[in-house]
Amino acid sequence: MTDRIRNAALAARTCSADEAAAFINPGDTVAMSGFTGAGYPKAVPAALAARMEAAHAANEAFRVRVLTGASTAPELDGALAKVKGMELRLPYQSDPTVRERINAGELEYIDIHLSHVAQYAWFGYFGPIDVALVEVSAIREDGLLVPSSSVGNNKTWLDLADKVILEVNHWQPESLEGMHDIYYGTALPPNRRPIPLTRPDDRIGETTLRVDPAKVVAVVETDAPDRNSPFAAPDADSQAIAGHLLDFLRREIARGRLTERLLPLQSGVGNIANAVLAGLGAGGFRDLTAYTEVIQDGMLQLLRDGVLRMASATSFSLSPDGIAEFNRHVDFYRERIVLRPQEISNHPELIRRLGCIAMNGMIEADLYGNVNSTHIAGSRIMNGIGGSGDFARNGYLSVFMSPSSAKNGNVSTIVPMASHVDHTEHDAMVLVTEQGLADLRGLSPKQRARRIIDSCAHPDFRPMLEDYFERACRDSFGRHTPHLLGEALSWHQRFIETGSMKR
Ligand code: COA
Repeated sequence: MTDRIRNAALAARTCSADEAAAFINPGDTVAMSGFTGAGYPKAVPAALAARMEAAHAANEAFRVRVLTGASTAPELDGALAKVKGMELRLPYQSDPTVRERINAGELEYIDIHLSHVAQYAWFGYFGPIDVALVEVSAIREDGLLVPSSSVGNNKTWLDLADKVILEVNHWQPESLEGMHDIYYGTALPPNRRPIPLTRPDDRIGETTLRVDPAKVVAVVETDAPDRNSPFAAPDADSQAIAGHLLDFLRREIARGRLTERLLPLQSGVGNIANAVLAGLGAGGFRDLTAYTEVIQDGMLQLLRDGVLRMASATSFSLSPDGIAEFNRHVDFYRERIVLRPQEISNHPELIRRLGCIAMNGMIEADLYGNVNSTHIAGSRIMNGIGGSGDFARNGYLSVFMSPSSAKNGNVSTIVPMASHVDHTEHDAMVLVTEQGLADLRGLSPKQRARRIIDSCAHPDFRPMLEDYFERACRDSFGRHTPHLLGEALSWHQRFIETGSMKR
């Protein structure tokens, strides 16, 4: 037994990653931990990939179906995609090799709202779960599991899988113990009850994960960091977008629609989200809360500065510097951070009740406010919808942000018709680009189009959009949501053929 594996029965199952990987069979559905590069298994996926490679060299098929919380890292997604070891992947990915395989038509991908995954698994939509492969930071004497840096769908995987493989990662701070809140009160319809969470800081569950010890076939010890690189400093576009959004929030406060404490913030990850958070810090806001998915380095600073009073998430995705900062002030952070299963962090009932302010990136938006978060030119997947739909559909405010152009100015992110729709015109309330902010609330389709062109479009594309809209208003089959269908997607076709939407 080691200090991290304190249960004698489970300590007896300790083995190598190769031995553990031998429990996974071709065709299995393997449900793994991992959310935004945090808390994913570090050793067994590589051992599994090696087995697959050997099988393929001997002309034997060896592929599995991989379910996770969200995106993982090169050691998991990258390793399995490289050896063509996945036949199905869900619910979210951001790995270049996985993306390549999906877009080559070699890997089936199901892009799902993150709040839906656990319940779909319980409903049986993904079939039986053969193996759960879950990273934890420790196993207690009583056999309960101390979760690691993300919770994701781990509760569901441990409950539903026939076999369980645990990776105990010594790199994860022991001080994570006590920060998690695992809610065991969810049920299936018609027996569901209200989830008793009314404030982002409420604790409604247990600090550990349960597992039936009889299902645990292997325990593997690791000592490997999560993937996380610190963000680059926000660029000029990101800062401009953040500036427009902060001005808007100030105006909402002045109108009495929000207070100085705002409402619980949800923010995607990336350069723009980072700039918005930094802007909140510089803008004199205090005592805010976050009810979101991922806590990154920037949020630690906001907590330390008192800008954020507390943060609730499902993943704790910190750089090595962030981990050092966390460990230096662990008692402070433990009081202010709660990590929950993603079915709770992203739950529509709770997001609606709390009134979250949802702020997410987009690939493009059309004149009427339909938003594409996932596909380039209608057919190539980028990452996935992630939690953006959970928050946009149910939040008090839903904001989508992007620079107004991409690909060195050759592509307009404001287009006549979105080439793929993840969030409909009924859910997107505010669009922001570095050009400005379009508040679409209370506007009809044609009013929205004018506002989006005026406020958000890049000047290089504004005349083309105005021209399209005017002709559509004149010649469209119906005049409610005017479109020239034969032309609406010609901008994307031009991009596919020439690399530019410009004429
Ligand atoms: N047409 C063509 N390419 C486009 C494009 C467009 N309209 N918009 C962006 N791109 C390209 C960029 O050029 C860049 O390409 P590169 O990787 O070759 O440089 C790539 O897409 C990523 O764009 P970037 O501006 O760096 O975007 P980002 O990192 O801010 O991510 C999304 C934007 C939409 C991809 C990202 O926010 C996402 O995956 N969202 C969905 C999930 C989500 O919202 N999660 C948060 C809640 S969980």
